Amino acid sequence: MKNKSVVLFVLFTLIVTACGGGEEKKESASSESFKAKVAAKLGLTEFEFENGVGPIKEKLNIPAEIDKKMAAEGLKIFESKCMSCHKLDEKYTGPALRDVTKRRTNEYIMNMILNPEEMTKRHPEARKLLGIHATQMTFQNVTQEDTRKLLEYLRSESK
Ligand code: HEC
Repeated sequence: MKNKSVVLFVLFTLIVTACGGGEEKKESASSESFKAKVAAKLGLTEFEFENGVGPIKEKLNIPAEIDKKMAAEGLKIFESKCMSCHKLDEKYTGPALRDVTKRRTNEYIMNMILNPEEMTKRHPEARKLLGIHATQMTFQNVTQEDTRKLLEYLRSESK
């Protein structure tokens, strides 16, 4: 009797995990192709849909730990080139940026900073923000290196 219930339990566990695994696979495969379809409809690649349109064309290798020196340099650039339109916690001329690293990928943020005009034309999220703010963010003559520092600063301010 005892043995039987052990066997049943093992069988049950096997069935549950087997089904669970199968479903997961199916789900991620279909959500991937769904994303690709949506991106294609918008005239974007799947990468562009997730990471924006601009000079950053592949995933960057950004360590999880914040580089404090880079963030401090980013803050200086932010103060001179971005604060006229952005605050961290309130909507201003542009959106509040405290949690931007939670709603966008690192690469998206860099493409938005490096290529804002094309972003608001071609990317649905940037276009939506243009609709809300009714001001076009302009390119602030920052280099890719400056932009990486700005990203580090924004990452350091995220709660
Ligand atoms: C002239 C005002 C202005 C300046 C200057 C400006 N921005 Fe923006 N920014 C905006 C607006 C407005 C938007 C929303 C998109 C649009 O309407 O162009 C935006 C959007 C963004 C976004 C995307 C936010 C999101 O939720 O997707 C980021 C990131 C950003 N700005 C960062 C910066 C940084 C960093 C700088 C400085 C290099 C900067 N901006 C300078 C006005 C500005």
